[in-house]
Amino acid sequence: MADEERPGAQLWVPDKHTVSALREAAPDCRGCELWKNATQVVFGVGSPRARLMLVGEQPGDREDREGEPFIGPAARVLDDALDAAGIDRDDVYLTNAVKHFRFSPASRGKRRIHEKPAVAHIEACHPWLAAELDAVTPRLVVALGATAARSLLGRTVRITAERGHVIEGPATHAGEPTRVLVTTHPSALLRLKGHGGWDEAFDAFVADLEAARAHLG
Ligand code: URA
Ligand code: SF4
Repeated sequence: MADEERPGAQLWVPDKHTVSALREAAPDCRGCELWKNATQVVFGVGSPRARLMLVGEQPGDREDREGEPFIGPAARVLDDALDAAGIDRDDVYLTNAVKHFRFSPASRGKRRIHEKPAVAHIEACHPWLAAELDAVTPRLVVALGATAARSLLGRTVRITAERGHVIEGPATHAGEPTRVLVTTHPSALLRLKGHGGWDEAFDAFVADLEAARAHLG
């Protein structure tokens, strides 16, 4: 539900849906309160004509400071998995479901503690993602984790139950259904590193990305 503090991003999304017009407009967004504590908006990057779009959760600490998505520790895992799946990062468009970093107000100094965005933030920020889909018109969108899946499909998604195959989501502006393949979030994998289960989890992630690549033909 929109309220005074969260009117939603729609008011700030320009009519012209090109990636560059969207990127230029995004820093003004006050669609929810997350802009207040964040350093800057972190918009999508990559090929504006990509056939494959990858959607993460929200910028992390490092992304927030530098203004680029997927450059922190989780990005290493993602890059390795893309490599293993034979997908060139330069051929994809990479963005997040939520464009500002949410962190715990209790965290001080250098290490700010990541907080998951709430459904209200995902919904408030959704107009940006919808506009990016409209601008890029990818053949397939990979949802990296539950937040991205929630935004793209408009419902709660259990990753383990639905991962690895193509799901038809709501229609885009062009009237075509969004084709979404859900997989795990690389940060979830990162937590397994050095523990049991890492190899299997990484291989399963790569297998999902390979399925995405196969769908593109
Ligand atoms: N970095 C991002 O940009 N998004 C994520 O979801 C995680 C790390
Ligand atoms: Fe706007 Fe999204 Fe940032 Fe909220 S998180 S202020 S909706 S860009």
